[in-house]
Amino acid sequence: MSIADKLLDWYDANRRSLPWRSAPADHAEPYHVWLSEIMLQQTTVATVKGYFEKFLSRWPTVVALAAAPLEDVLAEWAGLGYYARARNLHKCANVITTGHDGRFPETEAELRALPGIGDYTAAAIAAIAFGESAVVVDGNVERVVSRLFRVSEALPAAKKQIKARTAEITPAQRAGDFAQAMMDLGSAVCTPKKPKCLLCPLHRDCAAKAEGDMEKYPVKAPKKVKPTRRAISFWLVHDGDVLLERRPVKGLLGAMPGLYSTPWVERIDFPVKAEWLEHVPTDDYWKPLEGLAKHTFTHFHLETQLVAAKASARHNVENGFWHPLDGLENVGLPTVFKKIALLARSS
Ligand code: ADE
Ligand code: SF4
Repeated sequence: MSIADKLLDWYDANRRSLPWRSAPADHAEPYHVWLSEIMLQQTTVATVKGYFEKFLSRWPTVVALAAAPLEDVLAEWAGLGYYARARNLHKCANVITTGHDGRFPETEAELRALPGIGDYTAAAIAAIAFGESAVVVDGNVERVVSRLFRVSEALPAAKKQIKARTAEITPAQRAGDFAQAMMDLGSAVCTPKKPKCLLCPLHRDCAAKAEGDMEKYPVKAPKKVKPTRRAISFWLVHDGDVLLERRPVKGLLGAMPGLYSTPWVERIDFPVKAEWLEHVPTDDYWKPLEGLAKHTFTHFHLETQLVAAKASARHNVENGFWHPLDGLENVGLPTVFKKIALLARSS
């Protein structure tokens, strides 16, 4: 029996039932596959389930999603992080609606040309929704395949070799089930620590199992140290409202709402210097609050200090808007600003 056949048999008996999945050997709805795969790129299955169901009940089709205002999509995405995904999701829905009559293109190559769809996602949709024998490699597949073949080259350089190895074992039929079987195996059996090789349908095919050095794979290049950036956020309150800003469209957390803040830079000398406070008008004096709010992004850590003041009026501030403190949970603040707001409210 081939590796693919063993894995598919295992999948038929052990597959996770997930809201975006079809029955085995059936093709899943492309809109559901696309939405779930975009959400799953940097987020766990457990977290994605709830978001996926909320999106589907609010926007049951890709055409409905395209018709929604971007702000609504971003607000529904709040908490999932990596907001470029949500902006591209909306852009992609519009391209499919206007350029493809509301239907997903069916080949990996055409899918790859859409906004926000990279190599992984194009292959995943082509395989899972359309049955194309595309080669799907995510982090789980990298781990399983690098162990099966004891790939000694380190990631990320090893990606090319791992993709070629995955292509060798990807079947012509049921490539979508095969891909998801690899993911389920990686999540439940071939885990990063202490893989459960005794339960693995591939243990007789696995070079790392034969050598007993499973945990050595995938080999990874040493991580770069993340730099720390700093910022000051302003907690300017007037009559139960707080001043927020809509962030510039370009850049990190683009178009998301946030607390009014200085740019995020490598050096701000704490405590706050007077010149930073000139950003925002107030009639009251600025009071630095105790403590730092800390958040880690992909490429850096952010430490934010807060200064608070009371305003005598709802000053008009460029890109700023006032929002009731009582409904702050409903604005769709990204997690970093939720943490900063929490620090402000607990001071
Ligand atoms: N991670 C990314 N895509 C997935 C899928 N379709 N099933 C399970 N985990 C996944
Ligand atoms: Fe992973 Fe062990 Fe299966 Fe090899 S035998 S694929 S290391 S779980």
